[in-house]
Amino acid sequence: MKKIISVGRGGTGKTSFIAGLSFVLRDKSPLLIIDADPDESLSHFLGAENFKTISEVLFDIKEKKVREEVEKLTLPEKINYLIQQEAIYEGDFFDFISLGVKWSEGCYCQPNNILKGIIKRLEKNYNLVLIDSPAGLEHINRRITTDLDYLFILVDPSQKSLESIGRFKKLLQELKIKFKEIFIVANFRYPEDKLYLIEKETGLACIIKLPYDKEVEELALKGEPFYKLSKNSLFLKKIKELVENLKL
Ligand SMILES: Nc1ncnc2c1ncn2[C@@H]1O[C@H](COP(=O)(O)OP(=O)(O)OP(=O)(O)O)[C@@H](O)[C@H]1O
Ligand SMILES: [Mg+2]
Repeated sequence: MKKIISVGRGGTGKTSFIAGLSFVLRDKSPLLIIDADPDESLSHFLGAENFKTISEVLFDIKEKKVREEVEKLTLPEKINYLIQQEAIYEGDFFDFISLGVKWSEGCYCQPNNILKGIIKRLEKNYNLVLIDSPAGLEHINRRITTDLDYLFILVDPSQKSLESIGRFKKLLQELKIKFKEIFIVANFRYPEDKLYLIEKETGLACIIKLPYDKEVEELALKGEPFYKLSKNSLFLKKIKELVENLKL
């Protein structure tokens, strides 16, 4: 099983990147896609609907809003059963779960550990796990997953974008998050003539420069799923190249 995550500052294109990857990798099923961003935009990009988030399921259990026969089960049994029944969206070529709202202190007993346990159990059933994360670094503190294969950092042309990478690398070390490879992805706004600055300033290789793609922009505006992108989509073509390069 290979695990891939996209991270980066707000609006750099993390969610679009994961949606694009999932589409290009659709033949590698079983594929699990995890939305770790409470804003849940990935579900729109994937066309996933009528499911509960993991947070909602755990909240139902806490508030005893479950059927009588489920209430009789032990806590781990309840969690397993309800997640399987209500929180896994089954798409044509992927399964999808959304973690939902950020947990606050006292909200549930060790929710992050529960989440971590759930993800660990679930991911065993898949060849490939793709994770979309919220903007910034704070979520890394949730440490919902500590073993990754590919970590893609999306950057835009702002100075802050490159600056934040130093802090990010430090945090990964402090939290003992393991990964095999870490790559920079220059986003659709990043100018070609400034690509050389990336490695110079961050010490990390830029593996790909994503093109601007009008189709991607329009789908996001309408809230429509990525499978509507045409075969000629520049964005998908570029992601395909990346997938081939990395032999994903
Ligand atoms: N290759 C592209 N070409 C044109 N527009 C793009 C491209 N990639 C992303 N966008 C647009 O940029 C905006 C932000 O993209 P996206 O939601 O993927 O970013 P994000 O990093 O996930 O944002 P957030 O930090 O809010 O989660 C969207 O409107 C999207 O359509
Ligand atoms: Mg996003």
